Amino acid sequence: MAKAPAKTKAPVHAPKRAPAKAPPTAPLKTPPKASPKPPLQPHPSHHPAGGGQMGEADETMVPAVAADALSIRDMRLARDGHRKRRAAPARNPLREGLRLERVPDPHTMVIFGATGDLSHRKVFPALAQLWRTNLLPADWMLVAVGRRPYDDDSFREEIGRSLDQWSRVPLEPEAERQFLERIVYHRGDFADDAAFDGLTKRLIEIDHAHGMPGNYLFYLATQPSAFGTIVGQLGRSGLDHERHGAGWRRIVIEKPFGRDLDSAKRLNREVGKVFRESQVYRIDHYLGKETVRNLLVFRFSNGIFEPLWNRRYVDHVQITVAESIGVEERGAFYEETGATRDVLQNHLLQLVSLVAMEPPATFDADALRDEKVKVLRAIDPFTRSSVEQNVVRGQYGPGWVAAQPVKGYREEDDVDPLSETETYIAARLQVDDWRWSGVPFYLRTGKRLPKRASEIAIQFSGVPHRLFADTVTDPQPNLLAIRIQPDEGILLRFGSKVPGLGMEIRTVNMDFTYGSAFSVDAPDAYETLILDSMLGDASLFTRADEVEAAWSIASPILDAWIDEPAPTLPNYAAGTWGPEAADALIERDGRRWRRI
Ligand SMILES: NC(=O)c1ccc[n+]([C@@H]2O[C@H](COP(=O)([O-])OP(=O)(O)OC[C@H]3O[C@@H](n4cnc5c(N)ncnc54)[C@H](OP(=O)(O)O)[C@@H]3O)[C@@H](O)[C@H]2O)c1
Repeated sequence: MAKAPAKTKAPVHAPKRAPAKAPPTAPLKTPPKASPKPPLQPHPSHHPAGGGQMGEADETMVPAVAADALSIRDMRLARDGHRKRRAAPARNPLREGLRLERVPDPHTMVIFGATGDLSHRKVFPALAQLWRTNLLPADWMLVAVGRRPYDDDSFREEIGRSLDQWSRVPLEPEAERQFLERIVYHRGDFADDAAFDGLTKRLIEIDHAHGMPGNYLFYLATQPSAFGTIVGQLGRSGLDHERHGAGWRRIVIEKPFGRDLDSAKRLNREVGKVFRESQVYRIDHYLGKETVRNLLVFRFSNGIFEPLWNRRYVDHVQITVAESIGVEERGAFYEETGATRDVLQNHLLQLVSLVAMEPPATFDADALRDEKVKVLRAIDPFTRSSVEQNVVRGQYGPGWVAAQPVKGYREEDDVDPLSETETYIAARLQVDDWRWSGVPFYLRTGKRLPKRASEIAIQFSGVPHRLFADTVTDPQPNLLAIRIQPDEGILLRFGSKVPGLGMEIRTVNMDFTYGSAFSVDAPDAYETLILDSMLGDASLFTRADEVEAAWSIASPILDAWIDEPAPTLPNYAAGTWGPEAADALIERDGRRWRRI
């Protein structure tokens, strides 16, 4: 086993400045002097003596005295040439006033499945971005667990290559070197007790070598069949115990959490035997997306929408998660999964619960999740006959996407040529509570659709009296579209008079886009979620009862399909918006899928 690298004494990141404090208010009538700049300070979390304290980091921080600290008198004197005006520091005004981010406690993260696809493409690049932006503590180590025969150096080289390929923003060579230095490789099989005994020993060595308090974050980036084994091994080794003074222990579990309701319950029981629920972080990476998180802000920090957010004003809701890609190299995985397990049970139902939930009393993780669970429980459970009426499945055949010919699903690698796995699902749900009774929620997701686009559309009801029915164009009812990806933003559609002497009405859009409003790149969902798990904030993770409530909706669909013969498959061509039966599903109610 290779040794952990010696502790780096020098600050591991470029030192970050301390937030500029407003200069003390000058007494009235005393013009403020051109105050000397306070010295720049290293980031609190990277202070050589810094240990367990929480630090703060913010990219909008400004050096020393900000431009707005100048008095009007100062500026007038500067204009008149009496005094030299100080150079204004660069500042992104669009990020002013945003909360300063916290830095997690010192800890060791352990990734099980560190040699796998997800770790390479998402987890390590996300960690590297957190490192780059000084959001990881200075005392942070990572133990990568896998079966392949790496040692520390060869694994670091491998991750370096992955970062070159997958990093959202490339790291400075020195920052990358320091990041990689924090990673050690531990080889072992999950079934092997000795591998976990060795891991325990190694974690203790790291704690001693780095003066760490024994905080461990376990990340399960493995195939779901290994989750139970790893949890059992962590329990056997005592690595779950948050003994007095021994720091915290948390476990992040990748999706999918179970294959159906029974297996999800079984897995919850296995996890619950070892970890308390407050230690468990079940990932649905959709919840880490910036626009999804903004949905909460949009709904609950604006007074004007919430009064309209109910059955009195909303005609129906459409939620679309469309992918233009096929199954790529993951044919074997997809054969076992399909669109219902892959997207409907988690991402789509999470979006439904965020759209339909009541405002929580507080913004803590449990208050938020209590309200989401209530929505899932209020959804009319599917029966065999309601599945037949309200759910459509599909599978793509050959076709064209982005002007390129593409294979049908059954011709993809590692896919059964007679496969009945669904690559598309559309469903009509009813949230049967006071707020939403009678408002249908139409959900759809599929692969090889014409474009990659995820959107929540709140279709408001039309006006009660059509005052302008005789005009050339009748106004359309209002629509609010929340774009989750790409071009993250929010669009409000309303009618407007066309300029001129007549009374022509046209539908126009008021369009907010994240990119242009804030001029910063949104973090990747994995950056957000990993940081939250390090900070102990479980708001964006799925709770045990929530995951079971979601499976209670998805499982009856899968059960009904076991007995019911599949429709003739494939039933939609790649590059189209899904099977005709999905159009019929919504058109039966006198509505149409929104063109995205
Ligand atoms: N890939 C994605 O895009 C993606 C997206 C969302 C969610 N996920 C979820 O993320 C998880 C991982 O997916 P993945 O695609 O990264 O899987 P993967 O490429 O098959 O990786 C599996 C990892 O588990 C390790 N492993 C498997 N059995 C082991 C054993 N008995 N002992 C020790 N290590 C073992 C493998 O180690 P060796 O290779 O060293 O043997 C490898 O590191 C799954 O739950 C998946 O559903 C993946």
